[in-house]
Amino acid sequence: MERVYIFDTTLRDGEQAPGFSMTTEEKLQMAHQLAKLGVDVIEAGFAAASKGDFEAINLIASEVKGPVICSLARALEKDIEIAAQALAPAERKRIHTFIATSEIHMKYKLRMSEEEVLERAKKAVEFARRFTDDVEFSCEDATRSQREFLYRVIETAIKAGATVINIPDTVGYAVPEEFGKLIEDILNNVPNVDKAIISVHCHDDLGLAVANSLTAVKHGARQVECTINGIGERAGNAALEEIVMAIKVRKDYFKDLYTGVNTKELYKTSRLLCRITGSFVPPNKAIVGDNAFAHESGIHQHGVLSHRLTYEIINPEDVGFPSTRIVLGKHSGRHALKAKLKEMGYDFTEEDLDRLFEKFKALADKKKEVYEEDLEALIYEEFVKV
Ligand code: KIV
Ligand code: ZN
Repeated sequence: MERVYIFDTTLRDGEQAPGFSMTTEEKLQMAHQLAKLGVDVIEAGFAAASKGDFEAINLIASEVKGPVICSLARALEKDIEIAAQALAPAERKRIHTFIATSEIHMKYKLRMSEEEVLERAKKAVEFARRFTDDVEFSCEDATRSQREFLYRVIETAIKAGATVINIPDTVGYAVPEEFGKLIEDILNNVPNVDKAIISVHCHDDLGLAVANSLTAVKHGARQVECTINGIGERAGNAALEEIVMAIKVRKDYFKDLYTGVNTKELYKTSRLLCRITGSFVPPNKAIVGDNAFAHESGIHQHGVLSHRLTYEIINPEDVGFPSTRIVLGKHSGRHALKAKLKEMGYDFTEEDLDRLFEKFKALADKKKEVYEEDLEALIYEEFVKV
């Protein structure tokens, strides 16, 4: 069995998204829950970005045990030093330093040549190694970087002491097959690449972050950077819950791969983030959306009530979801109505059930969902009222 390391960046990339900033206390609460969830690395923030971020990382580093605690730092001594100070109390710490490697970023943002970027990457990793032997290096905008140059940067960073090399799809530009091939090519072409873990960090601008990350894993990446509910810059990052459950549910496809995540904590973690940030997940969100285990149509309800696996590939309890939800609405059938009435303590004859079903359908056509109170009212109208 080979582990796919889960690097959670909810508190860094996730928090960078508009509307998702958290106080130090909220970040600490979230970090405790992420530790309970069993992620391998918590990227707690970007220490040099603000005093608040520094304090949050420092507090998480002193109080949260289990995962490696990480801070982001630009490839600058000043940033790396601040990250190291913030992380000082951590039992296990990682400094994550990065620089852009694509032509467009080097030309317009960094105004640096390839040689200057190479030198900066080397110096940053060497400097970070003074504080910890766990140093991650990211080639920002890797998917739009010139291939041979990307290989040279990775080789340089490994030689300088990086233990994790992260390949970000910073602008969510990659498509799965191409991204998988990039990972495979890096593994086949960069000297000494086996000295580091290859990580991926995918953004969701084209809705492909999870697909790209999973394809990368299939091609040899062994760390995935992701966030709870997929929050993050612009359209977000790869959703942690989807990555983890895909690897678990499709063991047949991912063969010997596994993650250390306790999936029973997924729903709770997702809801905690919603409560803290005042956000919500769409009802149809995979794994943690309200409708992820809800069935309204008659055919599906009949199937699930006869055998859950007909229409559910995940047991809701495995992700800590309350339970399968049978929703009564205009698409529902007699089976679901009968099951709901039984749950409410009623045992109607088939003839009475037919009568009620007719009334139920008429009502369901006028409402989005038929609740227990609606059924009580129908029963009263039909069988009690004189
Ligand atoms: O998207 C990105 O490139 C990043 C890096 C800093 C890893 O967030
Ligand atoms: Zn990012």
